[in-house]
Amino acid sequence: MLISNMNPQSHFEIGYTPEIRWVKMLREYLPKCGITLCENPSVLNIGCGNNVKWNYLGVTLYLADQGLGMPNYVGVDMEEGAFAEARKALDGLVSFVAGDAQKLTEFLAGTYQLAILEHPNFTTSPKGSKVWQKILHETAKLLEVNGAIILTSFWLNDHMPAMVAVDRAGYEIVYNGRNKFPGKRFDTAENGELLQFDKYIIVAKKGASPE
Ligand SMILES: C[S@@+](CC[C@H](N)C(=O)[O-])C[C@H]1O[C@@H](n2cnc3c(N)ncnc32)[C@H](O)[C@@H]1O
Repeated sequence: MLISNMNPQSHFEIGYTPEIRWVKMLREYLPKCGITLCENPSVLNIGCGNNVKWNYLGVTLYLADQGLGMPNYVGVDMEEGAFAEARKALDGLVSFVAGDAQKLTEFLAGTYQLAILEHPNFTTSPKGSKVWQKILHETAKLLEVNGAIILTSFWLNDHMPAMVAVDRAGYEIVYNGRNKFPGKRFDTAENGELLQFDKYIIVAKKGASPE
């Protein structure tokens, strides 16, 4: 399937629906960062919420575009209610697990090639950085040796602590900065910054020795 043939028209002001944006992001950043996926990669989405459905579609379309197969895709979030709508929409395609990802390895097994953390909420609570650093540390334990993460943020106030947490959790950051394919702007922060879906991106590889 050629993504370039897909209709880019949508109500999203940037011009692409979220799943097509994710195809474009994966096409842009995975090769740039030297990350190749296998035929049926295992993909983990942490703090998946209901918007996981767009990411699932993006990953699946990307794999098809690369001539690869379907992913083994797992979504994790704190409570079942967080992904109830997505679970209905993706019935039989995605496995959903409810739990505190700070204790990820207590309730999830297996090895994953890619983990996606879309908009982790670093700044909505004072403990945000500590919580997500622990989650990133747990995630690393489930990644295969050549495994990688993609983490996106709405704004700089989340992106900066995310970089610190990713580094402290022992990953090697291979790319970070403004995402070439952000989504729509949905708000303006008190400091005047425009909040935008997937505005910033971090791509990091599992480090040799997590701290
Ligand atoms: C800002 S929302 C992003 C949701 C979704 N990824 C998206 O981009 O729309 C952050 C998500 O992280 C989840 N979350 C926060 N702390 C978590 C934890 N300790 N374990 C699992 N999920 C968590 C929240 O429940 C919420 O769904």
